[in-house]
Amino acid sequence: MTEKLKIQPASGKLGILTPGMGAVSTTFVAGVHAIRDGLRLPIGSFTQMAHIRLGKRTDDRQPLVRNFVPLADLPDLVFGGWDIFEDSVYDAAVNAGVLEKELLDQLKPQLEKIKPMKAVFDQYYVKKLEGTHVKSGTKMELAEQLMEDMENFKKENGCDRLVVIWCGSTEIYMKPTEVHQTLAAFEKGLREDSRDIPPSMIYAYAAIKMGVPYANGAPNLSGDVPALEELAKETGSGTCGKDFKTGQTLMKTILAPGFKARQIGISGWFSTNILGNRDGEVLDDPESFKTKEESKLSVLDSILQPELYPDLYGNLYHKVRINYYPPRGDNKEGWDNIDIFGWCGRPMQIKVDFLCRDSILAAPLVLDLALLLDLGKRASLPGGIQEWLSFYFKSPVTPKGLTAEHDIFIQQTKLKNTLRWMMGEEVITHLGREYYDG
Ligand SMILES: NC(=O)c1ccc[n+]([C@@H]2O[C@H](COP(=O)([O-])OP(=O)(O)OC[C@H]3O[C@@H](n4cnc5c(N)ncnc54)[C@H](O)[C@@H]3O)[C@@H](O)[C@H]2O)c1
Repeated sequence: MTEKLKIQPASGKLGILTPGMGAVSTTFVAGVHAIRDGLRLPIGSFTQMAHIRLGKRTDDRQPLVRNFVPLADLPDLVFGGWDIFEDSVYDAAVNAGVLEKELLDQLKPQLEKIKPMKAVFDQYYVKKLEGTHVKSGTKMELAEQLMEDMENFKKENGCDRLVVIWCGSTEIYMKPTEVHQTLAAFEKGLREDSRDIPPSMIYAYAAIKMGVPYANGAPNLSGDVPALEELAKETGSGTCGKDFKTGQTLMKTILAPGFKARQIGISGWFSTNILGNRDGEVLDDPESFKTKEESKLSVLDSILQPELYPDLYGNLYHKVRINYYPPRGDNKEGWDNIDIFGWCGRPMQIKVDFLCRDSILAAPLVLDLALLLDLGKRASLPGGIQEWLSFYFKSPVTPKGLTAEHDIFIQQTKLKNTLRWMMGEEVITHLGREYYDG
């Protein structure tokens, strides 16, 4: 048994700010309003729906997660953000077409009031978008303006605490360079308008500098560079990313651990998607797609460990395609063809056709991440990468020297055990009862 951490109570309001107020962000905000008004259930949210076992199986202690750890209550959440379009959350949600218009109309008075602040944006990093609702200045000045926005938002809405979650478009593929290695180099880069600092990094810097937790729901680098990790440790700001684990990758990280557990071989995994929302349009640009592709490809290698299992996974051919197809809107269709082999090498095939609603799967993740990052902050967990939240991401950011864990079941165990540990409960190893006392 560990000692329970000292956790500040979740009193007062929690502001959740999202750079990017498109399909995911507005589905999240509208959904929380619908849940608060008793119109819908928080389906897909671990913090709201899941139970957690405590102690021995025979103890019969299985509280709801939200009754076990002191999370902010849904009525205490306040929403805001930035976008390059001026649409209110109501208009953007209608435009995204994810939730039913009738539901959005019921929530219209509340959703109409939420309007995005002017964005930090540069088309160089997202080729397919053009925005007018944007700030101007050097990159350092832009960061300062974002910090001012956060201060004002906090004051105007009477918030005690803030969390920032990137729900903006996927930026072009970038690799860390010199400017990202130390905080000093990064701040110099901000002052000198370095090309290597995209808007998502400016938001990350602004949030982290203010000690505000920051999550990245897209695959671009954003907070995932040593300079911002250094800053996050200094300011005690929890960070996590990258790329919400939804849709096809969610299915992959559910299926692949099962094949591996049964030592079933895989010779090929072909994944293709059609989707027609703005995200699909942005990903139609090869440079943004490359960022996404890298994120989607890393998953199988990490779960299957071909270096340990060359006979089973050494020759796996993995291919991922995304096709922009406007008629489909947010209702993505993802096909997977999986060529597997079993006993004596005999081949078999599995076909998955997932008619998925991407933002419906992503919205509860935004809620969970906001609540858990806020919990971590109030529990004074060390700033920087919060690996216990890798459950939510396609490319979990991991401390230097560690490999990322992609298996969703291991991620879930890690998340639950972290909560048990925070609350001074025993972590659960599933070791047979006959082998330990108690
Ligand atoms: N939908 C999912 O299931 C899912 C899963 C994983 C990751 N993602 C990622 O989450 C992000 C959001 O997805 P979405 O479906 O809501 O896309 P979307 O295109 O509907 O919304 C993105 C919004 O970000 C805005 N934006 C772009 N650059 C900005 C900037 N610099 N500052 C402020 N706003 C900016 C756009 O104007 C747009 O309104 C994308 O990067 C997507 O790849 C989504």
